[in-house]
Amino acid sequence: MINESDLKVLFGVKEIESAVEELGKKLNKEYSNQELYLICVLKGSVMFMVDLSKHLKMPLRMEFIRLSSYGSGFSSTGKVNAVDISLPDLNDKNVLIIEDIIDTGHTAKFLMDFIKHNFKTKSLKFCSLLDKKIKREVDIDPDYYAFEVDDKFLVGYGLDYDGYYRNLPYIGYV
Ligand code: IMP
Ligand code: MG
Repeated sequence: MINESDLKVLFGVKEIESAVEELGKKLNKEYSNQELYLICVLKGSVMFMVDLSKHLKMPLRMEFIRLSSYGSGFSSTGKVNAVDISLPDLNDKNVLIIEDIIDTGHTAKFLMDFIKHNFKTKSLKFCSLLDKKIKREVDIDPDYYAFEVDDKFLVGYGLDYDGYYRNLPYIGYV
């Protein structure tokens, strides 16, 4: 267990709010007057998905899938576990995957490949709040991200340690 008093703030509430709003503006330009499917990768992306979606103005549909790659420790296992990946027909749709963080990239790659394999989408892009580029093991980059982060284990705003701290309104590290 980490003590909340041991956490240092990396990105505060206001900083996250304005970064998410900026991303929303970019997406409104990119997809203006086009329909969009957001695919939220549970559980980590839930806060980001909710906040981001409130800035979006195009006709929007939301799907929620559940993948996991982390055990209960501090490092990625590299194995992706598809807990629930049921999706509607995404053929000919604009699809944007919403993630909390890209770390090794295995989860992102798995999901992009899964969607490409099953659907002929009109477009398929990836939006991650955080990008831990330094940890990348597979060749994948988000089309949109708010912050690049270095190799620290982060919690809050959806990110967890052993299931805890997702509810923190800021992003912190130990
Ligand atoms: P990847 O497959 O290694 O890119 O891992 C992606 C997933 O690992 C993310 O969706 C997060 O759920 C989790 N993850 C990666 N880095 C962190 C972190 O610093 N804190 C909490 N979860 C993380
Ligand atoms: Mg995640």
